[in-house]
Amino acid sequence: MADKNKVAEQYYAPPPDLGKWEAFRIFLYNSETGQVLGRTGSSWAKILLFYLIFYAILVGFFAALLAVFYQTLDTKVPKWQLDSSIIGSNPGLGFRPMPDTANVESTLIYYKVNDKGSVLKWARVIDEFLNQYRKKGSGSGEAHGAENRVPCSPSSGPLGEKQVCDVPVDDFNPCTPANQYNYEQAGPCVFLKLNKIYNWRPQPYNNTEDLPTNMPEDLKQHIKTLSGKPDANTVWVSCEGENPADVENIGPVQYIPRRGFPSYYYPFTNKEGYLSPLVAVLFEKPRTGVLINIECKAWAKNIFYDRYERRGSVHFELMVDRA
Ligand SMILES: *[C@@H]1O[C@H](CO)[C@@H](O)[C@H](O)[C@H]1NC(C)=O
Repeated sequence: MADKNKVAEQYYAPPPDLGKWEAFRIFLYNSETGQVLGRTGSSWAKILLFYLIFYAILVGFFAALLAVFYQTLDTKVPKWQLDSSIIGSNPGLGFRPMPDTANVESTLIYYKVNDKGSVLKWARVIDEFLNQYRKKGSGSGEAHGAENRVPCSPSSGPLGEKQVCDVPVDDFNPCTPANQYNYEQAGPCVFLKLNKIYNWRPQPYNNTEDLPTNMPEDLKQHIKTLSGKPDANTVWVSCEGENPADVENIGPVQYIPRRGFPSYYYPFTNKEGYLSPLVAVLFEKPRTGVLINIECKAWAKNIFYDRYERRGSVHFELMVDRA
C-alpha cells in the first residue's frame, strides 16, 4: 500500500479535492508558492514592465504621427478653397427664423397675429439668432472678437488686419426685438443671410450693363438708380411669390436696411468677430389665412441660380392667421 503511494506521488498527484471557495481563495493568494492571482511577485513585475513599455511606445508612435498630421493643418485657413473645395464657390442663401429643429423638413413660418404666444415663439427664435450680432466689446462674458467690429460704409477705407465690419442689427426698424420683429402687426420680418465661403468675393451687378433677363423688374430699377455709385457694389436680393397666386398674396416687400449684402463684408477670411451681413425682408401686408410660397434669390455675377438644387436661392412658406 505504502509503495504504491510513493510511485503515484512521483508521477501524478490528483489535485486535492477542494471546495469551490477554497480553490478560489487559493487562486487569490497561494500561501505555499506565494502566488497572487496565479503569478508570483516577480512574474507580475515583469509582465507589468512589459506592458508599460509596450503602451509607452504605442503612445509615442501615435503622438508622433498626430504631430506630423497637425503640421499639415491650419486651423484658420482651409486647405481647399473655393472651386477646389467640396462646398464650391457658389454661396447659398439662408433664412431666419427657421422652424423647429425637431421638424427639419418644414420651412413654414406660421403664426396667429392675435396669439401672443405664437408671436413670441418666433420672436424668441430671431432673438436667439441675433444674439451673436448684439454682443459688443470685449467686456466680461462678451463675444470673442467683438471688439474688432467697426462701422463700415461703401466709402470707408480698407480694414485693418484684425478689423471686421459691424452689422448694426439694432437699426433694422421696424424689424426690432422691441417690436417683436413686426409679427404682431401682421407684417413679419424674415432675415436673410448668405452662407460664408472662405475668401469668396462677390462680382456685383453694379451698373445697368448685362443685367440678367430673369432679374425682377423692380430690382433692375433699383440698380439703375445706384448704377456706378459705390452703393451699387452689393449682392442684391429679391423675394417673390413662387406661383401666380403667391405673387398676388405676398403684398409689398421691403428690404431693410438695404436691398442686399454690401461688398465690403467680403471676403470672409475667418477673422475673429466676423459677422455675416443680414437683410431683413419685411412682408408688409401678406394676405392672411393663406399659405404663401416665397423664393428669395441672391444676385451677383458669380452666384449661379438653380431652383432645384437650391443654389443661390432659398425657399420658405409664410402663413399669417388672424384668428
Ligand atoms: C463694379 O464691380 C467690379 C467687380 O465686379 C469692380 O471691379 C468695379 O470697380 C465696380 N465698379 C464700381 C463703380 O465700383
